[in-house]
Amino acid sequence: MKTDICVQYVERLNLSGFAASVLFGKLAVLGELRVGRSDAICYKALKFYLLLLDEGTPMTVKTLAIASDHGGVDLKSTIAETLKKRGIEVLDLGTDGSSSVDYPDYAQAVAKAIIDGKAEAGILVCGSGIGMSIAANRYPQIRAALVHDRLSAELCRQHNNANVLCLGARLLGEATALDCVDAFMSTEFEGGRHEGRVAKMSCSI
Ligand code: RB5
Repeated sequence: MKTDICVQYVERLNLSGFAASVLFGKLAVLGELRVGRSDAICYKALKFYLLLLDEGTPMTVKTLAIASDHGGVDLKSTIAETLKKRGIEVLDLGTDGSSSVDYPDYAQAVAKAIIDGKAEAGILVCGSGIGMSIAANRYPQIRAALVHDRLSAELCRQHNNANVLCLGARLLGEATALDCVDAFMSTEFEGGRHEGRVAKMSCSI
């Protein structure tokens, strides 16, 4: 439920009980907390509020590479369309149909697009997301995160500076998957104490 996410955001804002109740009160007055019609509006309102508080700037991705195997092809198309509507240039590297293909080939295509500078970030979809994440993480420049909810998608940006999001189309509903994509695209790496840890992941032995 998006309202739960709103609650998480309000908690993250560390507002006083009074301020939180004012915020929720305003949203409720606007009809934005009413279940059914308005969860998305409520969520947008909170995101706007977060931006006003300068709680983080979105990841700047102009071009994103996306690919899937046969297990993720429908979700991949939905995500690609959603991102295009947000003004992001999407490099769709396949697959295009339901014929069985091998996920490492598609993970490699997205990794190469990022390594070659053709895209700043990537999304990989397979049945579970597991094969894609293992394959993509073979490339030292890639930090691929397999996520299952909005919070893990936020954390993979904030703490791990993930540049590839992996999703399991057979495990996630479409709304959850799109929520993960939204979080991935709109959450900034926090840097600081995470900087050195992330750098260590690219070191060879
Ligand atoms: C394909 O059947 C399936 O194995 C693949 O999509 C993925 O889940 C692998 O990790």
